[in-house]
Amino acid sequence: MSKSIAVVGMQWGDEGKGKVVDLLSEEASHIARAQGGNNAGHTIVAKGQEYKFHLIPSGILYPHTKCYVGGGTVLDPPSLLSEVEQLEKRGVNWKGRLLLSFYTQIVFPYHRLLDQLSEKKRGSAAVGTTGRGIGPCYADKINRCGLRLADLLSPHFQEKLRATLELKNWELDRLYGCAPLDGKAIYDEYSVYAERLKPFAAPVEELLFQASGRNEKILFEGAQGALLDITFGTYPFVTSSCTLSGGFGAGLGFGPTRMERAIGVVKAYTTRVGNGPFPTELTADEMGRFPDHNASREKGTTTGRNRRLGWFDAFLVRHTQCLNAVDSLAIMKLDILDDLDQIKICTGYKKMKFFPADSDDLAHAIPIYESHPGWKRSTCDIRVYDDLPPQAKAYLRRIEELCDIPIGLVSVGPEREKTIWLDQYFSNE
Ligand code: GDP
Ligand code: IMO
Ligand code: MG
Repeated sequence: MSKSIAVVGMQWGDEGKGKVVDLLSEEASHIARAQGGNNAGHTIVAKGQEYKFHLIPSGILYPHTKCYVGGGTVLDPPSLLSEVEQLEKRGVNWKGRLLLSFYTQIVFPYHRLLDQLSEKKRGSAAVGTTGRGIGPCYADKINRCGLRLADLLSPHFQEKLRATLELKNWELDRLYGCAPLDGKAIYDEYSVYAERLKPFAAPVEELLFQASGRNEKILFEGAQGALLDITFGTYPFVTSSCTLSGGFGAGLGFGPTRMERAIGVVKAYTTRVGNGPFPTELTADEMGRFPDHNASREKGTTTGRNRRLGWFDAFLVRHTQCLNAVDSLAIMKLDILDDLDQIKICTGYKKMKFFPADSDDLAHAIPIYESHPGWKRSTCDIRVYDDLPPQAKAYLRRIEELCDIPIGLVSVGPEREKTIWLDQYFSNE
C-alpha cells in the first residue's frame, strides 16, 4: 500500500488503463498524465454511461479529484476543448480541477498534416499512426522549434509562431511540395484557443510536489504501452514518447524518489492497433473462434480501427517487466475468454533467449505455446477471486508465475463494478 501509484500499459496499449485509473481515482486526490496526447483513448464505463478520454486524465469523473496534464505531453487545443465540452454536456464539473502545465507542447495543424503526409510517403512501411500529429510535434520539441503552452499564452505568440511556421512551411514545400500554411489563419484560430485555455494553465510541477509533500494520494496515468515506447518499443512501429514507468518522472518533473508503486496493466490476451510485428497474433481460424471486435470491445478508441488480436504473450510481459519493474499486474478482460475451448499462452520464442531489439527478428519469432482448457462459463458476475472457475484461476496463476508478478486486480467487464480486487493498493497510513 502506498501514496503514489503509477499505472502503465505492459503490452501495445489499450490494456484497460482508463478503467484502472478510474477505479483507483475514487481514493486518489490527484491524477496526472505525463506523456502522449490525443493519440490515447481511455474508456470508462461508470453508472451506465461510457466516457472516452484522450488527454483529460481518467480520474476526472470523481468531483474530489484534481487532474493534471504534465509538461511531457503534447496538447491539441481543439481536441482538448472538445473533450471539456463533452464533459460539460454530460454534467461533469471540471472547473478548477483540470490543470495544464505551461511546459506541454502544442499540436498545430502542420503537425497533423506532416503526420499524414509522412505516413503516405512511407507507403507499405507506414507506422499506422493515429494521424494526430504526435510524432511531428515531439520531433519539433526535440529539434527545439516547438511551441509550448507558455508560448501560446505569451504576448509574443505571433512572432514565435511566425518563426516556427517559416521552418515548417519550408519543410512542407521541400519534402511534400505543399502550399504554405496561412500564418494569420493559424494565429487567429490559436489566439481563440489561448484565451480558452488560459484558465487551465497552472504550475503543475509545483502543485504535484506540494501534494506529495502533504502525503496526498497521487495517481500517474500512463498512455500507450511499453512496446510502443520510443526507445524500447518495437521501433519504428512505436509512438513518440516514453511510455514506461520511468517516464513519469521526466514527463511531470516529479522526482522518482517520491514514486512508490507501479501497476502494470495487461489484457488476459494481447492486442495491437497499427502496424508492426506481433508474434502471437491469431490465425484466421483462431480469429473465427474468438469473440468479434464489437463483442470484445476491440475497436480503437481514437481511430475506430479494428485492433489486431493475439494470445497472451508471457515472454513479452516478462520483457516489459524488465523495463517497468511494476509491483503488481491488473489483468483485464478475462471475460472475453469465457467461451473459448482452449486458450494459449506464449511462454517464449524458439531459439531466442531475450526479447529481440530488431523488429525484423520479432516479425520472424516463432512463439512456443502451451494450451489451457477454457472455463466455458461467464465470469462477469464474479467479484471474489475464489469464485472464479478453477480453469480460470489456473490460467491466471500461470500468467502470474510466468511473468513473475503478483496479480492485484482482475477485470471481468468494462463497468466499474466488474472487478475482482486482490490488493488494496493505496495506503491509508
Ligand atoms: P486504455 O487505452 O488502456 O485505457 O484501454 P481502452 O479504453 O482503449 O480499451 C479497453 C477497452 O476494453 C475499452 O472499451 C474498455 O471499456 C474495455 N474494457 C476494459 N476492461 C474490460 C474488461 O474487463 N472486460 C471487457 N469486456 N471490457 C473491458
Ligand atoms: P492508449 O493510451 C494503442 C499506436 C498507433 C500506432 C503507433 C504510433 O489508448 O493505450 P502515434 O499516433 O502515437 O504516432 O501512433 O502507436 N498508438 C496506440 N495504440 N493505444 C494507444 O493509446 C495508442 N497511441 C498510439 O496505433 O501504431
Ligand atoms: Mg486506448
